Amino acid sequence: MKLKNIQDVKDLKGKKVLLRATLNVPVKDNKILNDYRLRRSLETIKYLQEAGAKIIITGHIGRGTSHTLFPVYEYFKEHLSIFFVDEVIGEKVDIAISKIEDGETLLLENLRTHEGECNNEKEFAKKLASYADIYVNDAFSVSHRKHASLVSVPEYLPSYAGYLLQKEIKELSDALKPPTPALCILGGAKFETKEPLIEKLLNIYDKVFVSGALAHDFFRVRGFNIGKSLTSDTGVDIKALIENDKIMIPTDVTVENGDEVFIKKPSEVSDRDNIADAGPDTVKHLEKIIGDFKFVLWNGPLGEYERGFIKPTEALAYALTKSSAKTVIGGGDTSASIAHLNIEDKFSFVSTGGGAMLRFLLDGTLIGIEALKNSNPSID
Ligand code: ADP
Ligand code: 3PG
Ligand code: MG
Repeated sequence: MKLKNIQDVKDLKGKKVLLRATLNVPVKDNKILNDYRLRRSLETIKYLQEAGAKIIITGHIGRGTSHTLFPVYEYFKEHLSIFFVDEVIGEKVDIAISKIEDGETLLLENLRTHEGECNNEKEFAKKLASYADIYVNDAFSVSHRKHASLVSVPEYLPSYAGYLLQKEIKELSDALKPPTPALCILGGAKFETKEPLIEKLLNIYDKVFVSGALAHDFFRVRGFNIGKSLTSDTGVDIKALIENDKIMIPTDVTVENGDEVFIKKPSEVSDRDNIADAGPDTVKHLEKIIGDFKFVLWNGPLGEYERGFIKPTEALAYALTKSSAKTVIGGGDTSASIAHLNIEDKFSFVSTGGGAMLRFLLDGTLIGIEALKNSNPSID
C-alpha cells in the first residue's frame, strides 16, 4: 500500500490528531542542549495548528522510564499555544483533551514512562488511538523501533506521514540513488550495522571513505598492527572489501600512547598505541577531493570526539558546508559531535535519525513507515 501524507487529509478543522513527534533531545539541568529535532518538528505542528486541528503530541525522551518531557513543553511554549499533562494515558489526559480547542496543542508525558510503549502493548496503543480521529507519524528517528506509538497505533486510526518523516524518506531514498560522482564517508564505531552498509553502498557510490574505528578493521586486514585500538569481527569480509578500489582509508592517524599523542602512518602503529582519530594528511586529502563530487553522504565521527579528538571531524564538517556538492549527513554521534558548531543549516540535509537513518539506508524502509502504509483506509 502507498504511504499517505498529512497534506492528503482534506479538512483538518476540529479533527483530533495524535502526532507522534521526534522529541528525544539532550537535556541537562532542565535545559535543552540541542534543539535541532524540535525545530524540525515545528513544521508539521504549525501546519496542523493553522489548519485548525486539535493536536495531541506524543513522544519519548531519553532511555529508561524516568525522564520528563517538561523541558520540551517549555521550549514549545515559546513557539506555540500548548498545554502539558504529566501523564501518557489516564484521567488527566481525558480531561485535557475534552477542553482542547481547535488549533491548540496538548503535549503528553514521555511515552516511555508507560511500560506499554516499549513492550508494544495493544491495549496501550488502543487507548492512545482512542484520543484522536487520525494519527500522524513525524518521528523518523525512532521509526525503527517496534514500539506501540509507532507500529500499533496505526492499526487503529487512519494514519499519515508528517512533513519531517516525508522529508527524511525523500532525502534518504535519494541518497540510495545519488547523482554521480558520489562520495560516502562512514566513520564511528557501530561495526555491526555499518560494515554491512559499506558493502551495500559500494554498489551505489563511486568512492567510500572508511574512517573512525571502522577503519581499524581495514588496517588489520592490511596486516598492520592496530595496538590497543577498537576492533571487531562482524563476519563481513573486510579482505574482499579492501580489494575494491572504491574504498579509501585514512593515510595517517592520531594515536595515544599513555599520555602522549602522535601522528603516525597506519603502518607505524605499535602495540601500546590506541588509534583515536584520523590524522592531518587524511583531513587535507578529504578537503581536497570533496570538490570532485556532486553528492556526499556522511555518517560517523572520524575520531573519539567525546575525549577531545574532534579537530578532523570539525574540519570535515566545515569542508562539507563549503562544498557545492549536495551534502546529506546524519547519525546520533555525528550530529552531537558538530552540534557546538551550529552549522546544521549549512548542509543540504541533516537527518534527525541515528539508528533509524542507518536502518533506512540498509533496508530502504523502517517498520514504522510500513505500519503507516498498512494502516486502515483513510477517512477522506
Ligand atoms: P553515529 O551515532 O554518528 O552513527 P557511531 O555510533 O557509529 O556514530 O560512532 C560514534 C562513536 O565512535 C563515538 O563514541 C566515537 O568516540 C567513536 N569513535 C570514532 N572514532 C573512533 C576510534 N578511532 N576509536 C574508537 N572509537 C571511535
Ligand atoms: C534516537 O534518539 O535516535 C531515537 O529517538 C531513538 O531513541 P532510542 O535509541 O532510545 O530508541
Ligand atoms: Mg552512535
